[in-house]
Amino acid sequence: MALGKDEGQMDLQAIVDDIASMMAPRLGEGRVADYIPELANIDPRQFGLAVTTVDGQTFHSGDATTAFSVQSISKVFMLTLALGKAGESIWKRVGREPSGSAFNSIVQLEHEHGIPRNPFINAGAIVITDMVLAGHKPREAIGEFLRFIRFLADDESITIDEKVARSEQATGFRNFALANFMRSFGNLEHPADLVLGTYFHQCALAMSCVQLSRAGLFLANRGTNPLTGFSVVSPKRARRINALMLTCGHYDGSGDFAYHVGLPGKSGVGGGILAIAPGKASIAVWSPGLNKVGNSALGSEALEMLAIRTGWSVF
Ligand code: DON
Repeated sequence: MALGKDEGQMDLQAIVDDIASMMAPRLGEGRVADYIPELANIDPRQFGLAVTTVDGQTFHSGDATTAFSVQSISKVFMLTLALGKAGESIWKRVGREPSGSAFNSIVQLEHEHGIPRNPFINAGAIVITDMVLAGHKPREAIGEFLRFIRFLADDESITIDEKVARSEQATGFRNFALANFMRSFGNLEHPADLVLGTYFHQCALAMSCVQLSRAGLFLANRGTNPLTGFSVVSPKRARRINALMLTCGHYDGSGDFAYHVGLPGKSGVGGGILAIAPGKASIAVWSPGLNKVGNSALGSEALEMLAIRTGWSVF
């Protein structure tokens, strides 16, 4: 897909550099996620921004080539895999509505028969991982997931950070509670430790902004990765994944993100955000300090600036 005339004339490198320099004096704002002990050791004074356009060019600035823990952003890619395996039948076990609750909340599950509100809150993502596991060993499911990410980003160097995975495995009591609670309703087919062993590894995926922006590009380009020419999902499915990112991608901060940025987006407690400008570009931003709802503080502001400067809001 070719970029429009306006994008052709826009100096994206200057915009990306400008935003990074505006953030430079504010590095360290927000609070690093420390409930996963390994993430508490990250230097908060980092900021990276990468924009990959649908014609295959990448513009980046700051710490955009430093790998970070993508955490919940991985849920977009696991959802894509689950849809590929089970199609629309996945919606029998997980909803498509915003929760208005924190990403790790358990409260709605009791009244809603163990069916999580959407695939991006932790409970929903755990069910999605259970679907991808589908009788295989966690090692095999993690291997499949990593191969998929490398295929999407067209980059064989991407890895999973074992230390982060083990750190969350040792402390993820709330996720164990969510998984066991859903199993009691019959909405988890595998034992909690197998599903979570897979889930913690998927969240521990380490990628830079440049790699992440490339991996998300199929969502900006009607399901086809313009870097490789491979059709990843149909245009209809790409549109639907973007709709879920817009409505549910930032948990109880989703409305605010839509208001300020106006793009489908998915955040992670590692401080990364993947945002999609349909027909235009895939954008990845990273800064570890989080705001009150657990989304990157500087990252959210940087995306607002980018959306204003480019006019890429979907609204
Ligand atoms: O399950 C967890 O709590 C983490 N592995 C992922 C949470 C997360 O990234 C929420 N995002 N803002």
